[in-house]
Amino acid sequence: MRRLLHVSASPRGTVSFSRTVGEELAGAVTAATPGWTVTRRDLSHTQLPHPGPDFARANALAPDMRGPAEEEALARSEALIAEVEAADVLVISTPMHNYTVPSALKAWIDHVVRPGRTFRSTPTGKQGLLADRPAFAIVSCGGRLGDPPAGQVDFLTPYLRYVLATIGLSSLDILCLEEMNRGPEKVAAARAAARPWSAACVARAAAPPGA
Ligand SMILES: Cc1cc2nc3c(=O)[nH]c(=O)nc-3n(C[C@H](O)[C@H](O)[C@H](O)COP(=O)(O)O)c2cc1C
Repeated sequence: MRRLLHVSASPRGTVSFSRTVGEELAGAVTAATPGWTVTRRDLSHTQLPHPGPDFARANALAPDMRGPAEEEALARSEALIAEVEAADVLVISTPMHNYTVPSALKAWIDHVVRPGRTFRSTPTGKQGLLADRPAFAIVSCGGRLGDPPAGQVDFLTPYLRYVLATIGLSSLDILCLEEMNRGPEKVAAARAAARPWSAACVARAAAPPGA
């Protein structure tokens, strides 16, 4: 049994461009070879809290220093990390909100990227503690990326790469669906570009780990 985890962040439900392409990719990966299960973590349904005082305190304590209150504060984080750990393939689909990830996805990241749990600090920098695996991100933008004024600065994709690499997930392929608010022709062009990208992702997801 292989598992695919689809984390989706759009507030736009089933009409979301990023979620739709993420679902199409999940469908293609799981249809290509038998024996898959898909877990969906829809962050517009699961309203994750921002880190509060209990979480912040618990996060800073070594496991053997935590009491029941701290363990409880980390329970949701542990469940979200377990979903990632159980996944052979990770798909993240997200819109761009104000040049970066939506706050719903940032809250998920804050629960999953934890010192002493998914990364550790060393004299030579942070070291990821999760095994690398194929990871794919679909990012949907209303406008165009690139140098202003024609485009807009992309704080999303470099950040997503960096923060996932922090926990060990370095094998990230990203597709940007651009100009999705600029009419049906732009949408059709972006959707057409998604097809060969998805086909390449299917091949990567089917490859044996480490290939
Ligand atoms: C709060 C908010 C902020 C947004 N900020 C940006 C932005 O900075 N750049 C951009 O290109 N589009 C921005 N958009 C537009 C969305 O990124 C765009 O509509 C995208 O295609 C939505 O993807 P979805 O259909 O997967 O939700 C924003 C939309 C919202 C709701």
